[in-house]
Amino acid sequence: MELITRMRRLRENKILREMVSESDVKLKSLIQPLFIDESIDKRIRIESMPGIDRISISEAVKEAESIRKAGISSILLFGIPAHKDELAGSAWNDEGVIQRSVKLLKKETDMLIISDLCMCEYTSHGHCGVIKNSAILNDETLAIYQKIALSYARSGVDMIAPSGMMDGQVKAIRESLDDNGFKNIPIMAYSAKYESSLYAPFREAAESAPAFGDRSGYQMNYHNAKEALREVELDIKEGADIVMVKPALFYLDIIKMVKERFNVPVAAYNVSGEYSLVKAAAINGWIDEKRMINELLTSIKRAGADLIITYFAKQFAEMHIEQ
Ligand code: PBG
Ligand code: ZN
Repeated sequence: MELITRMRRLRENKILREMVSESDVKLKSLIQPLFIDESIDKRIRIESMPGIDRISISEAVKEAESIRKAGISSILLFGIPAHKDELAGSAWNDEGVIQRSVKLLKKETDMLIISDLCMCEYTSHGHCGVIKNSAILNDETLAIYQKIALSYARSGVDMIAPSGMMDGQVKAIRESLDDNGFKNIPIMAYSAKYESSLYAPFREAAESAPAFGDRSGYQMNYHNAKEALREVELDIKEGADIVMVKPALFYLDIIKMVKERFNVPVAAYNVSGEYSLVKAAAINGWIDEKRMINELLTSIKRAGADLIITYFAKQFAEMHIEQ
């Protein structure tokens, strides 16, 4: 008689179940994004992202401290400037919103501070690069990314994360950092960033929706997987220290492929729309929010992400303190 293979033996006892669990989400690998708005002094709720606010520069320190207290040690900053123009001038102003925030945060906290680097929050047209006759010019944009990177570096940022999907952006930024005495600032590259419907709540939060057209001329087409591997390969050659796949949940296959093929740390961005979907269902009582947060972050980890950028970071950390 054939023996039944008793898979359930390792499932029945909770301690044993946990002992043989293959992937766990560590608090140390989570990064909490923050939206810092230069022109406000009170928090402003982001309607499409319940639980996430736009905060002022002075409040950023308090917010960072409470995230730190929950057990999260890194934040990713997005700035919303008071003035926008064609060339994102406020992004490379040494007194800009990110620069002032980074200086304060580095002085007052011991967190790892990462700055997203793009133009779309700073341009009047909402695109991620320099525009001429409705075209986004790649190489002219690189020169501006270099200026922004240097200004962020001067403010004392710990890591830079270029998200504009211009060709050669990692190389351009790496070179200008190296040439100006910032050899040790790592670059976390948004390597495989897809043109996704899931960024809509972010664009409300950062007031960065494109005024015309969309981003399909520079962000990746979601029908493609091999192209993501080329993007990652190029970014590593150009000097990326960490590569990123974004979004995360609809792109777990990409995370897995990247993790299997390359030997650099892989980050996954669990984006605004992924957050909002969960929150909307939770508010309606349709799902168990805590169970879903655990399951979704674990799935990103299981796919192979070393780091996860997620709006759930602080909430997840607080859930774990409660346990
Ligand atoms: C800027 C940027 C975006 C996100 C991160 N950096 C928006 C976009 O590309 O329109 C999206 C993050 C999110 O949805 O949470 N280029
Ligand atoms: Zn952008």
